[in-house]
Amino acid sequence: MNRITRALINQFSRPSGFFGHIAGWIMSTRTSNLDRNQWTVDLLDIKPTDSILEIGPGPGVTLGLLLSKAIDGKIVAVDHSATMLRQCALRNRAAVRDKRLCLVEASYTALPELGSFDKIIAVNSLQFSGNNDETLGKLAALLNPGGEMAITFQPRGSAPTNEKGEAFMAELNAWFSEAGLMTRCEILPMQPINAFCLLARRET
Ligand SMILES: C[S@@+](CC[C@H](N)C(=O)[O-])C[C@H]1O[C@@H](n2cnc3c(N)ncnc32)[C@H](O)[C@@H]1O
Repeated sequence: MNRITRALINQFSRPSGFFGHIAGWIMSTRTSNLDRNQWTVDLLDIKPTDSILEIGPGPGVTLGLLLSKAIDGKIVAVDHSATMLRQCALRNRAAVRDKRLCLVEASYTALPELGSFDKIIAVNSLQFSGNNDETLGKLAALLNPGGEMAITFQPRGSAPTNEKGEAFMAELNAWFSEAGLMTRCEILPMQPINAFCLLARRET
């Protein structure tokens, strides 16, 4: 792998600068990326009045899908990359102007006060920061009664395997079950590696 390719791959955890913009462009156009985001949104059964938190929206394509479903709802997107939040704002400028979309620069491991949500979605964004009971417990606590969270992971990078996806789902399942949520795992068959989604629901 040459240096430029490696520099680009490293960008996906926190895109910045020139290579960050290219990473954002790749995420907003690559079919596999768009497919697993659409699949995750569909799994969540979003209602028109839902309040939604997206963690790690990257270039903000999925925000457009969420806005088109939660037409009377409110969406908050948290990303620790200023470069990605700029792409989110450009891509969804009407929703930002109308205050239907609030963009927050922060890590989900140290969230400011955001209120609570009916849905939480994260697609290939929770695997970079080293999760623990406290971080994921706080995420679980942001769900309203009856609310649901969808965390999708498709292993990428130098040595992706389905086993890595299954292992991450097992970790998330243990954490969110411990936090009192009802969990299930869905799999989207993809080549060469599947996408995995852990759904965790807070009972009413
Ligand atoms: C691989 S990209 C995925 C982007 C988008 N969800 C998609 O599927 O196209 C990961 C995104 O999560 C963000 N991210 C990673 N770790 C994060 C953290 N600890 N807090 C907030 N955002 C994070 C990155 O900045 C990046 O925008």
